[in-house]
Amino acid sequence: MRILVTGGAGYIGSHTCILLIEAGYDIVVFDNFCNASKESIARVEKIVGKTIPLIEGDIRYKEDLNRVFESYTIDAVIHFAGLKAVGESVEKPLEYYDNNIYGTLVLCQVMAAHGCKSIVFSSSATVYGDPHSTPIKEDFPLSATNPYGRSKLFIEEMLRDLYVSDPEWKIVLLRYFNPIGAHESGTIGEDPNGIPNNLLPFIAQTAIGTRACLSVFGDDYDTVDGTGVRDYIHVMDLADGHVKALDKMSTFTEIMTIKAFEAACGKKVPYSIAPRRAGDIATCFADPTYAKAVLGWEAQRGINEMCKDSWRWQSNNPQGYKS
Ligand code: NAD
Ligand code: UFG
Repeated sequence: MRILVTGGAGYIGSHTCILLIEAGYDIVVFDNFCNASKESIARVEKIVGKTIPLIEGDIRYKEDLNRVFESYTIDAVIHFAGLKAVGESVEKPLEYYDNNIYGTLVLCQVMAAHGCKSIVFSSSATVYGDPHSTPIKEDFPLSATNPYGRSKLFIEEMLRDLYVSDPEWKIVLLRYFNPIGAHESGTIGEDPNGIPNNLLPFIAQTAIGTRACLSVFGDDYDTVDGTGVRDYIHVMDLADGHVKALDKMSTFTEIMTIKAFEAACGKKVPYSIAPRRAGDIATCFADPTYAKAVLGWEAQRGINEMCKDSWRWQSNNPQGYKS
């Protein structure tokens, strides 16, 4: 499967690219570099030992996206591209509505035009507004306290409407809390333009001496030490969540399964279309929630690993157990 990673050169995107490639997905990175550097992808290429197709473009421009969809067969999109600074969004709301809402609208239009209807969207815990209690659960009421949050909330609504209009869409909304950390190699990490907005890059840049001192914004909150409480998550764990989301939404048709196998074995598998087999049904797939709740069990391996391991067995043992 080939995944288009919008905003793939950015902080979370670049880390996710590594795990996607390690899980056997092919990717294309699409970014306008307004908050990223091409160097991040050059370093990801070193880590994974592969060349990564990189297209410079803007999600707001149909012609830029069309270039991607005309050059590659895209099976799903992980959509990181967008602006993310809360304070800036209050000063420049139109830029946020333009980049985030309009950009996502154009992306969905181009996806639909090319028959690609699977998207994992980078939403945010900000869509819970100021929650009435913690910890926050998925069914808490949604609201926004700033234009950035409203842009995420509106995109979620737009994607929900899209699904209602056409249930062929597979849509995953991931509401991130506070990703920090970096890939264990120490070669990629968070490198925000200008003065960091977020706490962790500010602490790190102060520790290295780039900044003299950091400000702790308020110590009179009702918390253990009076300063703000957040839910930090290692960026590699968050990246892994994207691979799991893709695996989860990937129920596979027969032809998609053949394609996945072709990717694993590195050659074409000849096939032709024959009449229906008696007794077959169109669709069958499970909801594994109960097994997770009762047994604490969930499957770990995605289609690429399944095909890779099947092929290893078949190629090591062409006649099965017969020698
Ligand atoms: P980031 O700024 O490092 O990555 C975003 C990437 O998108 C950048 O590479 C940027 O150049 C690119 N981009 C922006 N506008 C674009 C456009 N119009 N066309 C093409 N590319 C564009 O930010 P990140 O921390 O990696 O965040 C990724 C996503 O996750 C964002 O949508 C953000 O809102 C969301 N998110 C982040 C956090 C966080 O704390 N980092 C929390 C919740 C949600
Ligand atoms: N903080 C400081 N000093 C700084 C920077 C931040 O004290 O220099 C404080 C903030 O006031 C806050 C805490 O550190 O109390 C965390 O702030 P961040 O800016 O790192 O993170 P936020 O929780 O405000 O926002 C982040 C993302 C948003 C996302 C949200 C989801 O930036 O995009 O998490 O929970 F929506």
